[in-house]
Amino acid sequence: MKNKVRLYDKTFKPFITNAEINEAIDRVAACINDDFRGCTDTPVLLCVLNGSIMFTAELMKRLDFNCEIVSMKLSSYVGTRSTGKVREVMGMTGSVDGKRVIIVEDIVDTGNTIEDLTRIVREKGATEVRICTLLLKPDVYKKAIKLDYVAKEIPNDFIVGFGLDYDEIGRNFKDIYVLDPEPDYHVTEHKMNYYILFGPPGAGKGTQASAMVEKYNLCHISTGALLRKEIAAGSELGLKAKSLIDAGQLVPDEVVEGMIENEFNTVKGVSGFLLDGFPRTIAQAEALDKMLDARGEGVTSVVSIMIPDEMIKERIQHRAAIEGRADDASEETINTRIRTYHEKTEPLVDFYRKAGKYVEIDGTGTIEEVRAKIFSTMDQL
Ligand code: IMP
Ligand code: MG
Repeated sequence: MKNKVRLYDKTFKPFITNAEINEAIDRVAACINDDFRGCTDTPVLLCVLNGSIMFTAELMKRLDFNCEIVSMKLSSYVGTRSTGKVREVMGMTGSVDGKRVIIVEDIVDTGNTIEDLTRIVREKGATEVRICTLLLKPDVYKKAIKLDYVAKEIPNDFIVGFGLDYDEIGRNFKDIYVLDPEPDYHVTEHKMNYYILFGPPGAGKGTQASAMVEKYNLCHISTGALLRKEIAAGSELGLKAKSLIDAGQLVPDEVVEGMIENEFNTVKGVSGFLLDGFPRTIAQAEALDKMLDARGEGVTSVVSIMIPDEMIKERIQHRAAIEGRADDASEETINTRIRTYHEKTEPLVDFYRKAGKYVEIDGTGTIEEVRAKIFSTMDQL
């Protein structure tokens, strides 16, 4: 379970583990099996999309009598507050006429949804309606309708995961997280993390970048990949970049900076960014500071994966051999690459060291060892 998840502008902390959820589902399934054991009809499980999708699947696996499944979609929430209005968004995928129905809900809050649903299901000819919900907020539930099967009761807090969403995201988590209203977020609230990744060729930057992105919910910004994306999309920036590249010229700083700022503005649902390949010069580092300052934010930290020059050589040669590019492995080419790396990055190391934002990670161990070092360093930031 992650120790924190960030969805749009909100932070959530661990609440119910997947193991606890499964135990609760075991219990509720046992009650339903007791009530329906030996039945000769074929009751319908009515899955209320999208929230109940995971719960319905888990519940069904545990039922040992013949049952059908029908789905329907409703939506009653916008953001984290109930709109009080329940809308039928999508009709039912099958008939409930003449059937016993078990409505399967992810969560019952005010009960508005369940009230409307019960009415709709009866109108469609169900002979009996029972309600099964994974979660119930008893402090909020005000309706008289009996909830036949409740897997777990929770306080009146907003939660996500295991099918439950915050504006459609967060459903995929296998555990459940609760909104963290901690006031100590006031300083960092709506603040994003901006990490910069340094490392010579062969330091394992690419591999570690994917692990960092996943663990800290970051958007990986690699300038090379961005340029290709903008060009492929035929955006104004992309066209400008393409004409320069085609003319054999370097893409100027403003263009690269424009692309990066564009990513900052448009990528949603992440807790921050991992910059890779930018900044390359002091001028770019200053431009980045200016850009972030204008947003009331700043560089969080520069994570530098360091390996000795000898190891850079070994790793590049090894890689070249595997990829069959023996020419790439020539001593001279490698030395030039190492020299260029030092010349380009060293001033930046100094720049960020002075700003107190530079951390260096020993990149000589195994992938797992280096990853563990990066994680423990980032956790302390
Ligand atoms: P009710 O109509 O107020 O009972 O709300 C039921 C519906 O609201 C559920 O099916 C969910 O879609 C949504 N909901 C209620 N509480 C939460 C929550 O804590 N997280 C995410 N969705 C919720
Ligand atoms: Mg729902």
